[in-house]
Amino acid sequence: MAKWSDFLEAARAAALEAGGMLRSGMDQGTEISYKGVVDLVTNFDHRAQKLIFDRLATAFPSHGFQAEEGLSRKAEAEFCWVFDPLDGTTNFAHRFPVFTVSIALEHRGRVILGVVCDPMREEIFQAVEGEGATLNSRRIRVSGVDDLNRSLLATGFPYDLRESPVNNIDHFNNFLVRAQAVRRCGSAAMDLCYVACGRFDGFWELKLKPWDHAAGALIVREAGGRVSDFEGGEFEISSPESLASNGLIHGAMVRVLALGKSRQLGRKNE
Ligand code: IPD
Ligand code: CA
Ligand code: CA
Repeated sequence: MAKWSDFLEAARAAALEAGGMLRSGMDQGTEISYKGVVDLVTNFDHRAQKLIFDRLATAFPSHGFQAEEGLSRKAEAEFCWVFDPLDGTTNFAHRFPVFTVSIALEHRGRVILGVVCDPMREEIFQAVEGEGATLNSRRIRVSGVDDLNRSLLATGFPYDLRESPVNNIDHFNNFLVRAQAVRRCGSAAMDLCYVACGRFDGFWELKLKPWDHAAGALIVREAGGRVSDFEGGEFEISSPESLASNGLIHGAMVRVLALGKSRQLGRKNE
């Protein structure tokens, strides 16, 4: 009978192995194909997904799987792995060294562990529900910044930003003139981990998928931060809005998000 520590060890090992493959593969020449005008996928997305799936499915054959590149298997199983084999594909394809491997495990619909590996900086973030969050095995905590004016924020944009008015540009403009600065790094999983360890004070994004933020959201919470929808309500990994912060600037971020035009449009279209 597998123990939860076995799940964590398996997730960690798979993330490290896939991360190592991505790190050495980045300069090998990437085959790119397009899912949309700006939404690309590389052969390494598929290779990393296969590697992680093979490792975890061999260890835990009864578990379900959900991952970005078309993997959906027994998603209703008691345990289900939700993972993004390469978060930051656009960066990877351009050899901009900011990307992660993100793996979460759901138990009866609740995320119980998360692992995010940044192979370029050799950083591995992880959390188990109720047991805190770590970076390279050291406990991490969110920042103590309590003033939006002094906060460093992060965000990202959906791939349909040219076609959809619900594209985050309004929120970006609103935060740009209210925070100390706003960054757009290109890996939502990394952004969330950086909130967890206090490098960022807050993060928001629209239209993320479960594999983008399942692991990172747990890591933020376990580091003492808060994760919600844009109104401060309950967050679920299927939710189209993710707002994560150190908790101290959460209310201020909710108030800025309420000013956004795309928010009202998004609600109308629901
Ligand atoms: C993307 C990254 C990016 C975010 C996009 C995601 P991908 O994931 O997390 O930071 O802004 O919304 O789709 O496509 O690189 O796995
Ligand atoms: Ca992603
Ligand atoms: Ca991806």
